[in-house]
Amino acid sequence: MATTRHFLMCRPEFFGVTYRINPWMDPTLGASAATAVRQWEALKSAYESLGHQVSAIDPIDGLPDMVFAANGALVVDGKVYGARFAHPERAAEGPAYLEWFAQRGYPVREAAFTNEGEGDFLTLDEVILAGTGFRTDIAAHMEAQEFLGRPVITLRLVDPRFYHLDTALFALGDGNVAYYPGAFSEGSLTVLRRLFPDAVIAGEADALVLGLNAVSDGKNIVINAEAAGLCHTLTRQGYQVVPVELTELRKAGGGPKCCTLEIRL
Ligand code: ARG
Repeated sequence: MATTRHFLMCRPEFFGVTYRINPWMDPTLGASAATAVRQWEALKSAYESLGHQVSAIDPIDGLPDMVFAANGALVVDGKVYGARFAHPERAAEGPAYLEWFAQRGYPVREAAFTNEGEGDFLTLDEVILAGTGFRTDIAAHMEAQEFLGRPVITLRLVDPRFYHLDTALFALGDGNVAYYPGAFSEGSLTVLRRLFPDAVIAGEADALVLGLNAVSDGKNIVINAEAAGLCHTLTRQGYQVVPVELTELRKAGGGPKCCTLEIRL
């Protein structure tokens, strides 16, 4: 069943790949803000056509990764747990996102520990799955649990290409998940298999086009078009696949989910 969502997004006017903080980024290759904006507009339209509400935060010159709104915060039950970025290049994004929420009256909490918002925290109905290993400090998992009052389950990421949890796993929206096993430690894989025996398992080819960086509303799944195998599997399982093309943003290591911060009330 599809449920209507409220998303926060940031137009990539100042997008570029000017530094390298993950293996996808190569500043010598060149990236176009104009192309990124065009592809991003199509993503935003896709959400709106599905009936979702999209709010926008103003982009800031000098913060080329600010388009990746998912990293800006974690919002659950209308409470906003702020991001504290691992790399100085992105540090100013945390306060910018927190300010957006504070100005609109949301209760906000500045984080004491390093965490990259929904990049590493994925909220399901019963639990929050939390990644660690590259960006988010495991102490932030506990901090988020205390602040939000939701059980947080730690998962260890081991492959630098999948540096955020949302590059390797997404919530299908009905209590189930899809994930790429190669991104997780042995122990975390065992946890995933125990929690989600019916999970959709993705192969490396789909993971390498950031096919797991998808957004589901329980019925419709907005996903990178190139993840052909995964799209096929999801369709067979009864989901409505909504393919998008975000090739320009992938040069920075991001896909549709990275551009999308869910405001959960
Ligand atoms: N260049 C950004 C970084 O490495 C990409 C962030 C992608 N966001 C995400 N939610 N995975 O931080």
